[in-house]
Formats: sequence, C-alpha cells, structure tokens
Amino acid sequence: MRTKVAIIGSGPAGLLLGALLHAAGIDNIIIEQRSRDYVLSRIRAGVLEQGTVDILRRLGVSARLDHEGLPHQGFSIGYANRSLRIDLADLTNGSKVMVYGQTEVTRDLMDARLQAGLTTLYEAENTTLHDFDSFKPSVSCQVAGKTITIDCDVIAGCDGFHGVSRASVPVNAINQFERVYPFGWLGIMADVPPCSHELIYASHPRGFALCSMRSTTRSRYYLQVKADENIAEWPDHRFWDELRRRLDPVAADNVVPGPSIEKSVAPLRSFVAEPLQFGRLFLVGDAAHIVPPTGAKGLNLAASDAFYLSEALIEYYADRTPAALCRYSARALDRIWKAERFSWSMTTLLHRFDHYSAFEQKMQDAEFAFLESSRTARQAMAENYIGLPL
Ligand code: FAD
Ligand code: DHB
Repeated sequence: MRTKVAIIGSGPAGLLLGALLHAAGIDNIIIEQRSRDYVLSRIRAGVLEQGTVDILRRLGVSARLDHEGLPHQGFSIGYANRSLRIDLADLTNGSKVMVYGQTEVTRDLMDARLQAGLTTLYEAENTTLHDFDSFKPSVSCQVAGKTITIDCDVIAGCDGFHGVSRASVPVNAINQFERVYPFGWLGIMADVPPCSHELIYASHPRGFALCSMRSTTRSRYYLQVKADENIAEWPDHRFWDELRRRLDPVAADNVVPGPSIEKSVAPLRSFVAEPLQFGRLFLVGDAAHIVPPTGAKGLNLAASDAFYLSEALIEYYADRTPAALCRYSARALDRIWKAERFSWSMTTLLHRFDHYSAFEQKMQDAEFAFLESSRTARQAMAENYIGLPL
C-alpha cells in the first residue's frame, strides 16, 4: 500500500490529523491496534476548548456536538468549605468551553472517516516503523494474520503514551521530562443528574474531587486516591459517601447517587518528549506529552498538535520544501509547555500531598486566598482554562 501520511493511532490526535489532511486533499491511512468498539469504549476527557470546537466545526463534524454539547461559561473551585466561581465568560471577553465527551468526538470523526471512504486498519498487530531517518519511510503491521506494508512520505505517531512511535526513536535523540504524582484519580460515570450545572473542582483535606458531566442526566465524578488504589475496595456506596464529604454542603446535598456504569483509576503524570520530529517521524498528542487531567488539557493539546502538523504538511505539499515540516516541533512545544505549566499548577493547587510540610500547606491556602481576592489571578486561570490561542 502507499499513502502520503501513515498515521499510527486512532485516538483524537490521529483521527483529527487524518480529517484535517483529508480536507486539504492529502491522503492518509490510519493504523490502530485496537478495534473500533474498544476505542469507543474508553471513557476519558470531557471538556473542549473553543479552539478544538472551532476545528471540529471547520471539518464539518460538529452536528452532534452543536446539538448535544453543553456550553459552560464558568466553573467553581471549592476550598475549605468555600466556593469560588471562575466566570470564564466575564474574565475572558465572552469565551466559554464545551462539555462533550471524548468518546463522542472520536465517534463523530470515525463516522466521518467511514463516510469519506478513508482507510483505517483496525486490530493491527506488531506495528513497526521503518526508515524514518530517510525520505522513504514505511510502516508495517499484521492484520488478520496478513502482513501489510505502507510506504509513505511521513509517519505521524499518534499512538498515545504507551505507543510504538516514541519507543522507536533512539534514546540519545530524545529528551524526556517527567513528574509522576503520588496519587491517581478514581473516576465513575453514572446515569444520574449532575450535582451542579457547572463543573466543581474541590480541594479538601481528604483529597481532591471533581464534579463533571456528560449531559443533564449523566454525571462524571472523580476522587483523588492513592496511585495504586485497589478499585475493588470502592463499591459505589463508598464512592458516593466520600464524594459528599469532599464537597461544600450545597453541592454535597445535591449529589444524586446511582449505580456506576464505568469505574476506573487513572495515574497522574506530567511528561514531555523533545523534539517532536525525528527525520520523517512526527510525534503528536499523548505520544509526545502527558498532562495531569486537572486542567482538562490532554485532548485539547492533541487537537492543537494535529492542527499544527496538518498546517506544516499542507505547506510542505504545496511547495515541497521541508522548512515547514521543521517548524512543527518548536511551534507545538511552545503551546505544550504552557499547558504543562497550567496543568501542573492546577494539580498543585487543588490536590493534597501527603509529604507537604505545614509551610507548603500554608502556601496552598495563600494561593487560594489570592485567587479569591484578585481578579487578575482569576483572569490568568480563566485565560489558560479556555485554551491559549492556536
Ligand atoms: P490516545 O487517545 O491514547 O490514542 C492513541 C491511540 O493509539 C489509541 O487508540 C491506541 O489504541 C493506539 N495505539 C497505541 N499503540 C499503538 C500501536 N502500537 N499501533 C497502533 N495503534 C496504537 N483531556 C482533556 O483535554 N480534557 C479532559 O477533560 C480530560 N480528562 C481526562 C480524564 C481522564 C480520566 C483521562 C485518563 C484523560 C483525560 N484527558 C483529558 C486526556 C485525554 O484523554 C488524552 O490526552 C487524549 O486521549 C490524547 O489523545 P491521543 O490521540 O494523543 O492518544
Ligand atoms: C473532565 C475531566 C477533566 O480532567 C477535567 O479537568 C474536567 C472534566 C471530565 O471527564 O468530564
């Protein structure tokens, strides 16, 4: 097989890149190790920045998003039984975010890809990258026992944190920066009305809690737990009791418990690999970086990376000079590091750290008090939360 761009991974990064390239007339093939249903069953992000929504609208895949997505003009921070609203619209000249599940974004992009007749190889095993330090790279894999080789101009590694793309780069060619946090998030989804019409990020001596949603009848909640927490020790009733304890009294009263339809623990990590280009291989999304989820940035960064790489490739195919391709890494990393900083600062502000000294705890208290008293501080938080410009 031959294509211009071989995309490894059909998460948001790979699907968006494929759609952006297709819209520009650049053919591409996606190679995905899982089945379509498996990818669609992974419950993850829920908050889309305006820039991500704009990309989906321009691609013509926003019909469901525009109908079912919930625009949010603000969120609340709970701290020491107080609640502080971050009025996104007021603090940023009217900007907002959209609550719409990553699963739905993925489904919309997969459906559009199917309708456009584009090739996605699902359940591809042993994906291997070849010769990306030359002008003739290729990707091989096995599908249903048959070996397939895809010759291409460029490989886009959109295969997430545990993928094969970054692992194929010689270790001396890549710099990696990492912080692993000493806790994880226990998340549940339940078909019950959310306890608040806006998101609540709550800091509490027992640990962080997040109240989110997928619709007016489906709630998504998270609790800070130990990184190696045993999920079997969290029957639903324990989750609901613990959630209520960590929320302000009004929100706690409004929690409607119900049977969970999904429950999982996610570790928290900050990670960046530099650079993002290795000859004709480009890293995109979680393959290149991870943010702790507190700032709701992971999916949005995957979208901005895909956007930048699509622009670089469009320019490359227009004039055949590699200069455009060479700009991708620095351009994407500039935005990535700012989102890393914001995600780290939200995580540090809102979580309980066992090893914190009394001094460090006072610093957290003072940061919250400053946020309460300073519109400028709230404005900086809002500017980052709605998403920095593309
Ligand atoms: P992925 O979604 O991981 O996709 C990679 C794909 O590559 C997968 O389909 C995988 O099967 C495939 N793959 C892997 N290895 C191979 C291989 N060898 N060959 C072929 N295919 C392969 N982000 C936000 O922006 N907002 C939020 O509110 C938010 N909340 C989150 C909550 C949780 C609990 C979690 C866990 C994450 C959250 N995120 C959030 C982060 C967001 O989900 C990720 O950043 C996003 O999925 C990254 O997309 P991606 O396409 O880069 O990677
Ligand atoms: C959700 C996840 C996040 O990490 C976040 O910051 C906000 C919302 C969610 O899954 O709804």
